[in-house]
Amino acid sequence: KIKVIFDTDPGVDDAMALLFLHFAPEVDLVGITTTLGNGSIDTTTRNVLYLTERFGIDAPVARGPDTTLLGDAPAPADFVHGKNGLGDIDLPATVGRTADPRPAFQFIIDTVRANPGEIAIVAVGRMSNLALALRADPEIAGLVKQVVIMGGGFGYFGNLGNVSPAAEANIHGDALAADEVMGGAWPITVVGLDVTQRTNMTTEFLKALADDGGEAGRFIWDITRFYEDFHHKSGVPNIFVHDSSAVAYLLQPSLFKTRTGAIRVITEGLAIGQTIQKPDGRGFPPSPWDGRPSQTICVDVDSEGLRDLYRRTI
Ligand code: BDR
Ligand code: CA
Repeated sequence: KIKVIFDTDPGVDDAMALLFLHFAPEVDLVGITTTLGNGSIDTTTRNVLYLTERFGIDAPVARGPDTTLLGDAPAPADFVHGKNGLGDIDLPATVGRTADPRPAFQFIIDTVRANPGEIAIVAVGRMSNLALALRADPEIAGLVKQVVIMGGGFGYFGNLGNVSPAAEANIHGDALAADEVMGGAWPITVVGLDVTQRTNMTTEFLKALADDGGEAGRFIWDITRFYEDFHHKSGVPNIFVHDSSAVAYLLQPSLFKTRTGAIRVITEGLAIGQTIQKPDGRGFPPSPWDGRPSQTICVDVDSEGLRDLYRRTI
């Protein structure tokens, strides 16, 4: 089994990705760390605790910081995910489970050090926890098996961003953290927005999940009502499959086409949060990409195969 730490900000598509990991037979979910993003850190942490309790997910939960590395706290994306982050379905007033006492970055360090070479990190929120872990203990980069990130956009199929014409939410929301993480000496694969938006789920697909996918399928149906409505209001007919695309890469990388090269994130100015890869083998004059590790980005996906994997797993 692959030992996985899931770094997340539920978030409707985060909750869908968590269930995907939970039901994947080849995954041993060893921990969940939270970031702010789709909700405040209180909201996203409460949601993870709720999801672990409701679905019997037996993994410790560690909470991330309430600000980015620059000390700000971007407004939650509640117009996408609802005020409670889970499509405004009814949630219980309290959750029985509690978070691990350690901050998320320390939980990541301890877990990686206890399982050298074995941990895959799937990061689908702001990159703050990963960056803080790297700052506190840079050696963990060499001890992590794999990092899969949903974030950024590399312009395949024309798309760079969803919070600005240049930037995607997870990277834009803590651009400094993202640039530090992309420069880390760990093997990263990024599934950017341009590729996650290639895969969508229709109302019929989600209805079939509700009919055949047991409690999880019905839950996914419930939380996606608000999310689907947001897509419709934005002129998008079917929901995008962002965070579950990162999980799909972990489970079945052959679904994706990839390209390697060093990645930089723009950390200030008009294009803050933009992700740019310098493709391996391309000659350029000396540039700020030099000396950075070559990382992998996804450039295309077999969407039908991805949806099928999701449906079968749930
Ligand atoms: C990303 O931002 C969040 O709203 C989603 O959960 C996803 O991780 C897409 O830009
Ligand atoms: Ca997310």
